[in-house]
Amino acid sequence: MDLKLENRVILVTGGASGRGASICCRIVEERGIAVILDRNASLSESLARELSPDGDRCDWLAADLTDEAATREAFAELIRRHGRLDGLVNNAGLNDRTGLDGSVAAFRQSLEGNLVQVFLVTQLAIPYLKKSTGAAIVNIASKVAVTGQGGTSGYAAAKGGVASLTREWALDLAPHGIRVNCVFPAEVWTPLYEKYLAALPFPESRKQDIEACIPLGQRMTETAEIADTTLFLLSPRSSHTTGQWLFVDGGYTHLDRAFTPPPIPSAS
Ligand SMILES: NC(=O)c1ccc[n+]([C@@H]2O[C@H](COP(=O)([O-])OP(=O)(O)OC[C@H]3O[C@@H](n4cnc5c(N)ncnc54)[C@H](O)[C@@H]3O)[C@@H](O)[C@H]2O)c1
Repeated sequence: MDLKLENRVILVTGGASGRGASICCRIVEERGIAVILDRNASLSESLARELSPDGDRCDWLAADLTDEAATREAFAELIRRHGRLDGLVNNAGLNDRTGLDGSVAAFRQSLEGNLVQVFLVTQLAIPYLKKSTGAAIVNIASKVAVTGQGGTSGYAAAKGGVASLTREWALDLAPHGIRVNCVFPAEVWTPLYEKYLAALPFPESRKQDIEACIPLGQRMTETAEIADTTLFLLSPRSSHTTGQWLFVDGGYTHLDRAFTPPPIPSAS
């Protein structure tokens, strides 16, 4: 299916690593123009070079999104270079494990890094998305927003905020033809997840325990599976879909955790 994203300029925050990198890769495969906005300049540069050796399909800008002035400057540079914006993926985030026993300053920092920056980047993008036909925003939340996780107050509050803003903005922006949807991943093997797991006791058996609870295939979601859903939501192929929360998690969030798939009966 042609996703009709050719030459569409799409900004991906946190695009240098994990699922953000996978999303950029899919945009380039669809002949769109992916623009990475990430605080990791060297990773952004090498990914952009790998995806688009000629530089025409993948561009990058470096900024820490918790630095408002740097983010505004990077966004202005994006517009100077490309002159337009057709899509935005609010993907950057960090599960910093700020729990109930953390300081108020750490909680604020978690909200800055996972929620406030989403507001800022979206606000910067809106004037340009309004000028595009069929523009779309995809927010990346987390199943933690609806299930909780324990020990991650800041991250959970922020991702809950991202989910709520999706519905708020879908209403605000519908009159301008801009769609806003939210993807909820659960367990995806990325550098962020690896770091999170390494900080827990018994990381290996914890991984196996989690996988055993995922009904579809007893495995973690692949970054490419998050990317494919995100691309569909960016594409005019989902032209009447807005304000939706889409869980890409092999059934982990909503199906019975003790579920074990029964053997498939043979056709004969
Ligand atoms: N990995 C999982 O299991 C999982 C599950 C649910 C939700 N998520 C969410 O998916 C998104 C991507 O996660 P990932 O697993 O691909 O992570 P990752 O660590 O592999 O990549 C995140 C990228 O975002 C960038 N980034 C983070 N904070 C930034 C900031 N303040 N300014 C600029 N860049 C910043 C990092 O440099 C990195 O390149 C995040 O929003 C995360 O919360 C991940």
